[in-house]
Amino acid sequence: MKILITQGIPDEGPALLRGHGIEMHILKKKNIRKNALIAELKKEAYDGMITLLTDTIDEEVLDAVGSQMKVIANYAVGFNNIDIQKAKERGITVTNTPGVLTETVAEHTFALIFAVATRVVEADSFVRAKKFTGWEPKLLLGIDLSGKTLGIIGAGRIGSRVAEIGKAIGMKIVYHDVQKNSMLEEKTGAEQCGSPEEVLRKSAVVSVHLPLNDATHHYINADTLSMMQSDAILVNTSRGAVIDEKALIVALQQRKIFGAGLDVFENEPNIPAALRKLPNVVLTPHTASASIATRAKMAKMAAENIIAVLHGGKAPNEV
Ligand code: DGY
Repeated sequence: MKILITQGIPDEGPALLRGHGIEMHILKKKNIRKNALIAELKKEAYDGMITLLTDTIDEEVLDAVGSQMKVIANYAVGFNNIDIQKAKERGITVTNTPGVLTETVAEHTFALIFAVATRVVEADSFVRAKKFTGWEPKLLLGIDLSGKTLGIIGAGRIGSRVAEIGKAIGMKIVYHDVQKNSMLEEKTGAEQCGSPEEVLRKSAVVSVHLPLNDATHHYINADTLSMMQSDAILVNTSRGAVIDEKALIVALQQRKIFGAGLDVFENEPNIPAALRKLPNVVLTPHTASASIATRAKMAKMAAENIIAVLHGGKAPNEV
């Protein structure tokens, strides 16, 4: 049995696979292009693969895998990069890595919220640029969070954990989700809003936790941004295209909102210069799940899914 891993992942995954007699070909190059991936898949008959969220696994790629391919384990909780339907039609199981990254992503989300509210990144640059010439009553004023409303759009595992952290620092929680989240309501006193617009209107901080699909593409756009409070903060650690990036840049340039914290972008790794120039935005390179422990757990989970399927069992995390 041999699998393809499209880029090096923490050794906990490969070590587990080795222990189960599964051979691996790990690609050395970062972010392989689709054509190169197709060529690789045509060259060798792989039984499975571990893919990254940067690998597009569409019909063309799936046409290149032989009928021996049984499992694609995505090294991410999101799986918008894979055509699940087409994979299923070919009898290929697709898996993801839910749960293990919830806490890490929620903490990173709050790091972005705090960074924007307290202007900590601007303040750090200010000090390093030797601009600090003495204490001033109006220097780099930020906003307080305690007592304000935190709006969660998409109250799944990560959104719920972000809400709990918000509650712990004295924020009131509102959320919008297609489903009622009774557990979240019990834990945090969260109020369910009938629409995302209601969340945007009511919240001082809005945190987006949506999967990317046709229904959520540009879910936050010029129209919905205009509903936000003028001193509101918008944070996104889900997928970039959930927000219309151009519309957000305009809102930030015109100070229609206080600021934004973004870990994800519409066309990664390309980030518009206009966005990079803005002082009222904090940007991280899609690293919300990047703790040493979590990335190791994700590698182990992907390996466990591969092992289960290749040994004739059911994948624990089939999507
Ligand atoms: C995921 O797992 O989908 C995250 O975006 C990785 O950080």
